[in-house]
Amino acid sequence: MASAGDATYFGFQEIPLRDKQRRVDEVFHSVAGRYDVMNDLMSGGLHRAWKDVLVTAVDPPRNGRPFSLLDLAGGTGDIAFRVVAEGGAGTRATVIDINADMLAVGRARALERGLDDAIAFAECNAEALPLPDRSFDAATIAFGIRNVPRIEQALAEAYRVLRISGHFLCLEFSAVDVPGLDALYDFYSFNLIPALGQAVTGDGGAYRYLVESIRRFPRPDIFADMMRAAGFARVSHRLMSGGIVALYSGWRL
Ligand SMILES: C[S@@+](CC[C@H](N)C(=O)[O-])C[C@H]1O[C@@H](n2cnc3c(N)ncnc32)[C@H](O)[C@@H]1O
Repeated sequence: MASAGDATYFGFQEIPLRDKQRRVDEVFHSVAGRYDVMNDLMSGGLHRAWKDVLVTAVDPPRNGRPFSLLDLAGGTGDIAFRVVAEGGAGTRATVIDINADMLAVGRARALERGLDDAIAFAECNAEALPLPDRSFDAATIAFGIRNVPRIEQALAEAYRVLRISGHFLCLEFSAVDVPGLDALYDFYSFNLIPALGQAVTGDGGAYRYLVESIRRFPRPDIFADMMRAAGFARVSHRLMSGGIVALYSGWRL
């Protein structure tokens, strides 16, 4: 096993840090084609409501004023599509993701909807963005940060590419804290989701990883401190659906 300094977790499994990205990539290569339908099935459509709350917080201008969004670990482009639909004619989005298969689904959706001018897709690592300093008005990451091996580096990069007064928003699964609901949620997560994943994508293991990775993700107060350490100001978070999901907000001032 790797020394403590370079070990991490892939779900509940302790692995060398250098192996995590490859293991995460295998998960999303395997599920990319069925990723969107699984989101609806797993969450009973609730992920749409959580994403709507994030988009409302992004608050793109409705007039034609230029507004640029960077959606990190944006996968099939869900957040970018919603922000562009909500904003005016000057709203543009760049989706970055490390996984070409997830991006291919997003690009096809953009073409289908005639949004390929408004939304750009680029394959790159959120830990090392090939993008200039201070170039975006907002940066988002939805259900992505827990998959990134070096979270601190991704937060530092998000901060670097934001303009002054730029807004960072992160949507991530959290810890259910409602007596009764927690046991039900555990049963659903560890038993039904992997079985559903197996039936729909043929890869139950991928969904076991996704469930386990939620449990390993830092508690809201700890993650909020990580955002502050990256430089973000006025950091806050709100829990939704009994703590199933948290929306984090921070500003580059
Ligand atoms: C659960 S999906 C979320 C996709 C999308 N944001 C959504 O809400 O539907 C997680 C995404 O994180 C991406 N990812 C994992 N590690 C990454 C990294 N280091 N840099 C960029 N993207 C990464 C995966 O490829 C995957 O598309």
